Amino acid sequence: MPDVQALETSVLNAIAGASDEAALEAVRVSALGKKGAISELLKSLGGMSPEERKANGPLFNGLRDRVAAALAARKTALGEEALNARLAFEKIDVTLPARPEATGSIHPVSQVLDEVIAIFADLGFAVAEGPDVEFDDYNFTKLNIPPDHPARQMHDTFYLKEQADGSRHVLRTHTSPVQVRTMLKQKPPIRIIAPGRTYRVDSDATHSPMFHQFEGLVIDEVTNLGHLKWTMEEFCKAFFEVDEVELRARPSFFPFTEPSVEWDMRCDRSGGQIRFGTGNDWLELAGSGMVHPRVLEMCGIDPSRYQGYAFGAGIDRLAMLKYGAPDLRPFFESDLKWLRHFGFTALDLPTLAGGLSR
Ligand code: DAH
Repeated sequence: MPDVQALETSVLNAIAGASDEAALEAVRVSALGKKGAISELLKSLGGMSPEERKANGPLFNGLRDRVAAALAARKTALGEEALNARLAFEKIDVTLPARPEATGSIHPVSQVLDEVIAIFADLGFAVAEGPDVEFDDYNFTKLNIPPDHPARQMHDTFYLKEQADGSRHVLRTHTSPVQVRTMLKQKPPIRIIAPGRTYRVDSDATHSPMFHQFEGLVIDEVTNLGHLKWTMEEFCKAFFEVDEVELRARPSFFPFTEPSVEWDMRCDRSGGQIRFGTGNDWLELAGSGMVHPRVLEMCGIDPSRYQGYAFGAGIDRLAMLKYGAPDLRPFFESDLKWLRHFGFTALDLPTLAGGLSR
């Protein structure tokens, strides 16, 4: 007669010790499988006398039921453990930052602005700023354009409402008033560029009532036209990304410079394309000159000690030339198709070392 109690203890221990479902299944087969120890016991009932069967039947059946229940309970527990382990392993950290998808693009005007700043920063120029709504005095008078000067007519100015003192603010017609603002608050040496929005009553394929310029100003004890020319050349080489450029100086007139010079750059427009640095055509680049002594004086700088040069150029125009956009109007129409075509990747900041416009 087998020791039923000992068998039960050993099977229940094996069930408790089964560490996974496969191990538990092995225990089940060894106890309750066709040839399992408990199955054999139950089979042995058939060969017993009625008295023996009556005594052992409930014993064996009870053993089988308790073992079956223990197997089922352990199976449930193991299933839960496995699920918990998987959940812990597969958890997603929802606080992690999402990987940025590059959508949207940098407008060609912003791109050229960043390029211009990168180039002049490398030459030691600081960036200066002024407001879009400007004093008439800074936009005109202190730049040697007094109230009745004919040059005022050339500017197609947007005037604002009259002030109490009779003066009228203007939407600045150029970035040159930032020269005035800089000289009024800073002692020489001065070396700045001032990019920004400018406004004139003008609108066609190459003119917009709001457009962008950048201004340059250098004031020091020794400055001359040679420095100005070198600065223009260095800018053109870097901006148009060519090794050599040829500039042509044309005499010009601006009230705030004397002498005044306009710069053209040699280019090739044959074949419907523009190439910079070679060819038989000329591209208008910038107005410039030596700062007029009267301007220095009106801005509190002694013209007998200091001179300087200044220049101004259109940012939108440079963007059109460099990136082959024939019409200025779509620059300000927010047309997605145009923006996708002419836009730049947001994470590609222009640098001289890395390339301005890859
Ligand atoms: N302010 C001029 C314009 O808007 C451009 C310009 C010309 C700026 C000569 C300058 C300069 O600083 O020296 O047409």
